[in-house]
Amino acid sequence: MAGFSSSIGRKYAMALSAFFLLVFLVMHLFTNMLSVFSVNGFNQASYFMGYNPFIQYLMQPILIFAVFFHFIMGFILEAKNNKARPVKYDVNGAAANSSWMSRNMIISGLVILAFLGLHMYDFWFHEINHKYIQGNIDDIGTDRFWIELHEKFADPIKVVIYVVAFILLGLHLAHGFQSAFQSVGARHPKYTPFIKAFGTWYSILIPAGFILIAIYHFVTQ
Ligand code: HEM
Repeated sequence: MAGFSSSIGRKYAMALSAFFLLVFLVMHLFTNMLSVFSVNGFNQASYFMGYNPFIQYLMQPILIFAVFFHFIMGFILEAKNNKARPVKYDVNGAAANSSWMSRNMIISGLVILAFLGLHMYDFWFHEINHKYIQGNIDDIGTDRFWIELHEKFADPIKVVIYVVAFILLGLHLAHGFQSAFQSVGARHPKYTPFIKAFGTWYSILIPAGFILIAIYHFVTQ
């Protein structure tokens, strides 16, 4: 079995973390989408996510690990690729056989990383502070979540930054989705076209959903 020391092993591990993040994104979108349709539904879902021990002490650490792993591995793969390919693509005329997005995964990835820094500052640090620093670890029946989220989108600059990040997320996914399947060797004349089409829809609909949420909260201030 190829380990992290081989290029195939690294790509495989990168793809596994990508699959986990792809599932997380769907769940995250559905939870947040509740905030558009039901204040109470969103408050209840957020309470569950924020206070359920399985989510908090198992899934959350796994998610944090997957995010860091994905980014660090991405940088390593990019560095190794650049070393193996000292002649730049542009002068090499490789545009013909690799898409612009596939060559710029590191750029879209960096934008998403910057977005995540802001996003964690907006939501996650606030939660950690509320629960573990201020000590409100079991404020059962709380309905603060919806209004806290709603207020975050009062600032038009924040909404623009979020929307730009979601568009870049879409571009990252447009290449990344099918690439992850290729890295685990899932290639088949029958299934590959389906995976590609599904990836295209995924990379449009998921970011579009996040954009809708941000704009909904901005226009309903
Ligand atoms: C309008 C769009 C979004 C909204 C309203 C939103 C909202 C939230 C909220 C309320 C939390 C806090 C959860 C908690 O209580 O800990 C959170 C956490 C998080 N969000 Fe988002 N999010 C959005 C988009 C995204 C996107 C596109 C990504 C990934 C690219 C993302 C990644 C994360 C991560 C990694 C966490 C930390 C999860 C945790 O461990 O609690 N979010 N988000």
